[in-house]
Amino acid sequence: MIQIKNIHKSYINGQNNLHVLKGIDLDIEQGEMISIMGPSGSGKSTLLNILGILDNYDEGEYMLDGKKIQHLNERKAALLRNRMLGFVFQSFNLVSFKNAMENVALPLYYQKINRRKRNRIALEYLDKLGLRDWAHHLPSELSGGQKQRVAIARALITQPKVILADEPTGALDSITSQEMMDLLTEINKSGITMIIVTHEHDIARRTQKTIRIIDGSIQEIVENEAGSTKFEVRTQVQSTKYEVASAPSCKHYEKVA
Ligand SMILES: Nc1ncnc2c1ncn2[C@@H]1O[C@H](COP(=O)(O)OP(=O)(O)O)[C@@H](O)[C@H]1O
Ligand SMILES: [Mg+2]
Repeated sequence: MIQIKNIHKSYINGQNNLHVLKGIDLDIEQGEMISIMGPSGSGKSTLLNILGILDNYDEGEYMLDGKKIQHLNERKAALLRNRMLGFVFQSFNLVSFKNAMENVALPLYYQKINRRKRNRIALEYLDKLGLRDWAHHLPSELSGGQKQRVAIARALITQPKVILADEPTGALDSITSQEMMDLLTEINKSGITMIIVTHEHDIARRTQKTIRIIDGSIQEIVENEAGSTKFEVRTQVQSTKYEVASAPSCKHYEKVA
């Protein structure tokens, strides 16, 4: 799904040239769930932004789903992002004056789908994530976990092949973080390739592989036990419903029919 070879990236600030990525090679197969770990400033977000076609690279090669990603103009990049990729961020990045449904529907606006249809589809995705009752609430009325689930619904609505998540649990408490990983794992099982940047071991160990980056280079790639199961790849994400099953002391997501 993703092949990068010898990727280099520098930022130029005035006189200073900051060499952030120093020859990254990475091969990510369709349906894999991997994590990227490393100290703050090691280049994790820079790498994720390049994978997400949000930023350019200086040297090397990037193939996404068999297509060479290089020197794309913004229109082409936006088109590919909208068709192929879903994004999840630490700070949720929801539009504060739009309700949950409108936030989820936003990517379909860029596909020029009419309001009625995109809101209907958005409601279906909110329903899958157990948030139908919150559809008309503003982000400020939602908990952190709920906001991140809205962001995940927004990422899923275009049926991406890859989800890129930059510290998706960074603003959540540990229980909500693990629930978020349950959810991302379920989504991965539906066949979507999942790339998660994190600096938490409890999050990384739940992915199949951890890429450790130090100072712009890959230091090692660790296979995690939890992720060793090779999941059956299905493509029918639409038929999957994720529900919040609440019990007094434990909450988890269950996949129903
Ligand atoms: N747009 C930018 N312009 C200049 N320097 C940047 C920019 N983005 C990131 N950097 C610098 O590049 C380095 C790597 O940043 P980043 O990829 O965000 O690291 P991480 O996500 O691992 O914490 C840091 O030193 C950061 O300050
Ligand atoms: Mg970062």
